[in-house]
Amino acid sequence: MTRRFLFLLGSSRPDGNTELLARRAAEQLPHGTEQRWINLAEHPLPDFEDLRHDSDHVRPREGAAAVLLDATLAATDVVIASPLYWYSVSAHTKRYLDHWAGWLRVPGLDFKATMAGRTLWGVTALAHEEQEVADPLVGTLRNSAAYMGMRFGGVLLGNGSKPGDVLRDTEALTRAKTFFAQEAPLARFPYEEGGADVRDVTP
Ligand SMILES: Cc1cc2nc3c(=O)[nH]c(=O)nc-3n(C[C@H](O)[C@H](O)[C@H](O)COP(=O)(O)O)c2cc1C
Repeated sequence: MTRRFLFLLGSSRPDGNTELLARRAAEQLPHGTEQRWINLAEHPLPDFEDLRHDSDHVRPREGAAAVLLDATLAATDVVIASPLYWYSVSAHTKRYLDHWAGWLRVPGLDFKATMAGRTLWGVTALAHEEQEVADPLVGTLRNSAAYMGMRFGGVLLGNGSKPGDVLRDTEALTRAKTFFAQEAPLARFPYEEGGADVRDVTP
């Protein structure tokens, strides 16, 4: 089956370290793998409005939400390429993920069932040298994948502050070469490590 990678760029500036690192990793994708790149800043989503318990969400048919929903549904692999902002994903990225909660409630869309078994990946750049400060971002993506029944390929981390810095992080560039070749197991919540059942909690 042809894999279709959707790269969602979440930085608030163009040509940043996160995108540079993501493009290095994407260069290694096998020939024939489809790639679509969308800069979330160029497709501004409205603030998410939580109608989950009031009325049905309606499938967006135009604008940024329609573009992003259709691109998400078409992807076998969704790559969240977000810089580390305040130890988590950027606001552009978070707003996109919040819209998933609405798409889950669009009648007939079966968003969760459609995304189940597909793969979520992360790429991030951060200024901090110690990578564990990115744990909240990693947890956000991993737990979101677990909720959706998706696979999780992990997060490719690179160091840098100003644009281009990440190209001096030789260890990150080495990891980028094989990142997408890694196995992506079904995501699990931390409490499931021992094999407990998935509990159906929000969103
Ligand atoms: C709003 C904002 C918040 C940031 N928060 C963090 C942070 O929590 N930890 C960190 O190591 N770097 C932080 N940084 C630095 C960026 O992660 C770093 O500059 C990164 O290279 C930006 O990625 P980009 O070049 O793809 O935009 C922050 C930068 C901004 C603008």
